[in-house]
Amino acid sequence: MAASVYGAETSAAAAADLERTAFRRAEKKYKLYKSPLPKSRKKITVTKPTLDLAEVIDFRGAINESPPYRMGVIKVDCSDFDRPVFGLSDHPGFYFIPNALSIEEQCHWIGESLQSFPQPPNRTNLTPFYGPIYDLFGAAKRLQVFSNLENPGNYQGDSQKETMDSCKHPPIPATKLLRKLRWSTLGLQFDWSMRNYNVSLPHNKIPEGLCKLAKKMASPAMSKGEEFRPEAAIVNYYGPSDMLGGHVDDMEADWSRPIVSISLGCKAVFLLGGKTREDDPIAMYVRSGDIVLMAGEARECFHGVPRIFIDEESAEIDSLATQFTSKDEKFILDYIRNSRININIRQVN
Ligand code: OGA
Ligand code: MN
Repeated sequence: MAASVYGAETSAAAAADLERTAFRRAEKKYKLYKSPLPKSRKKITVTKPTLDLAEVIDFRGAINESPPYRMGVIKVDCSDFDRPVFGLSDHPGFYFIPNALSIEEQCHWIGESLQSFPQPPNRTNLTPFYGPIYDLFGAAKRLQVFSNLENPGNYQGDSQKETMDSCKHPPIPATKLLRKLRWSTLGLQFDWSMRNYNVSLPHNKIPEGLCKLAKKMASPAMSKGEEFRPEAAIVNYYGPSDMLGGHVDDMEADWSRPIVSISLGCKAVFLLGGKTREDDPIAMYVRSGDIVLMAGEARECFHGVPRIFIDEESAEIDSLATQFTSKDEKFILDYIRNSRININIRQVN
């Protein structure tokens, strides 16, 4: 199985089994096939399947269409919400809000995702190896060779040994380390080794602005009079060949509460499957500024991101690019030109 953001390893037998599922077949259909390295002497013939995007739902397109929409798309009646909200006829609890964020808001949250969200006490995928890293983005920006390795710090997680061993590795330049950033966690910290929220880990509350945004955007999926309580968030950072394998997020107590999932940066294909991997998933585009809500039954559905698009035409970040103009912001633009960021916000209890 291709490396997922969560780095789950599967045995060969389990991997072979996964190949057989409808979800896996869809992942293979949309994934990026890398060309063999030019240096390689061996003649490897990789037949790159032609990418067939005909069945990918485009909710942005639906904004300008009138019903009946194609491919099971329905308009959700949200009288007290200020923009169009769509759903899928056979996926109750799934909501898609195209263009939910203005360009300015997108820029703001991209900046926050890179500069403040990976800061301690928030943990990232790098924490177990390097200890807490302060201002990784700033260091990368200044193109300094960065090393936090002499002092792995006060990391209290899964494997102190791993941390110490990794200190033997030569220092890694901050720019390289930034490219290795795959996720960070906000609010209550999720412990991937235990697969639960570890309330004893030090954490800050979800930033006020993000809380406010999530509450507002969650409202189409909430019952009248109820308010969403953002308690934890996972920020995913996707490079050009990264994907997120099919999974269900099942560690939160109340599945009637939505997961609010914000897309930033390059366009991607999002797959929404059924309750088993055998169900054929539905593919849809997620673009910068789109928001997906998964609540109720949709929370039990497998989902994942098999592909991000970084070529200029397909990435659809032109309007974003015009916003990052200063020297400082240019570095953010360079990053986001071939990256996607996803912030997904959850109510845990
Ligand atoms: C997740 C997730 C989806 C995305 O982090 O659990 O499903 O769009 N992310 O990146
Ligand atoms: Mn998920």
